Amino acid sequence: MERIVILSGAGLSAESGLGTFRDEGGIWSRYDLSEVATPEGFARDPAQVHEFYNARRSNAALAVPNPAHKALVRLQSSRDVFLVTQNVDALLDRAGARNVLHMHGRLDRATCAACGETWDAPDVMHPEDPCPGCGTCATRPDVVWFGEMPKGLDLIEERLGDATLFVAIGTSGTVYPAAGFVDIARSAGVPTLELNLEPSGGVFDAGRYGRASRIVPDWVDEVLSRIR
Ligand code: APR
Repeated sequence: MERIVILSGAGLSAESGLGTFRDEGGIWSRYDLSEVATPEGFARDPAQVHEFYNARRSNAALAVPNPAHKALVRLQSSRDVFLVTQNVDALLDRAGARNVLHMHGRLDRATCAACGETWDAPDVMHPEDPCPGCGTCATRPDVVWFGEMPKGLDLIEERLGDATLFVAIGTSGTVYPAAGFVDIARSAGVPTLELNLEPSGGVFDAGRYGRASRIVPDWVDEVLSRIR
């Protein structure tokens, strides 16, 4: 029985119009990540951080899933596929994917830095928004910042060790721990495949390169055409 673990990154959503981080003109060439994507940056200037995520939340809400998201949903409907994403958009979920593990959190969720309560984020968040649970004004986007622990790592490692195939899609492989998943899979003897615009530099057993909207549906069609 096939058990496929798929890690996705910003390249999966690039053709939905959401910017990647490290490509030319990417988000981290326009913003200082230490200011908008660290707990220290948030402590220094919460209004600036909210403004950054409010804009990203509004972009993500306007974006629509592309053929790559839809192909992964098609694959999941007939194979055992565990979808892990670094993307904070909800495009996989909106395409119909089930049980997506958002290891870097989600733009459409909010959390309280004081008590840990989480809730659906309003379109626009402000530093003075009180937590609906404890009332403290320590509301922040429920995203994982640099220096914080990604979500679901134990489950991801468990599923990686037990997979029959690991696939990384549209990620530069520069941010750990996600960048190390390919090595965990390889050490467990799991075959690895990269689907990306160009080789990321990670050590994969195989790779296919081009735009996600073309190479992901092509790969999914091939997998689905194989007899299980
Ligand atoms: N199709 C496929 N791949 C693409 C496309 C496309 N249309 N466009 C770009 N790519 C590839 C790039 O070649 C690159 O390898 O997607 C990758 C995007 O890399 P990054 O911008 O570094 O994004 P990602 O790997 O998701 O970043 C990881 O870094 O800042 C943090 O938290 C943020 O989750 C993010 C993490």
